[in-house]
Amino acid sequence: MTEQKSDVGLTKVARVEEIPQGHCKVVTVNDKPIAVFNVQGTFYAIYNKCPHEGGPLGEGRVKGHVVACPWHDLSFDLRSGVATDGGGYCVGSYQVVVKEEEVFVGGKRPR
Ligand code: FES
Repeated sequence: MTEQKSDVGLTKVARVEEIPQGHCKVVTVNDKPIAVFNVQGTFYAIYNKCPHEGGPLGEGRVKGHVVACPWHDLSFDLRSGVATDGGGYCVGSYQVVVKEEEVFVGGKRPR
């Protein structure tokens, strides 16, 4: 999908039906790969590169609000980007807005 900027700094990345519950879509926003997850109808966006060695988090297993990296299994809370199993790792998490059945990604959220 081509990036479409809105006038408030949000980028349209998908229609809601493109990301069913329990699924993820990897998009590009400002040249960055972002993984957008639908967890029970709520959307979360994190940087798609694991801070350990760059594994594609969008391909990880999701359980509840946690995604496990497919390469070495570090787990991250999709709500914050913080690793759930210690070690101090964290990945960027981004604002998500759903408006009129469309999903928008905004700026990085503060921790
Ligand atoms: S690259 Fe993700 S846990 Fe190693």
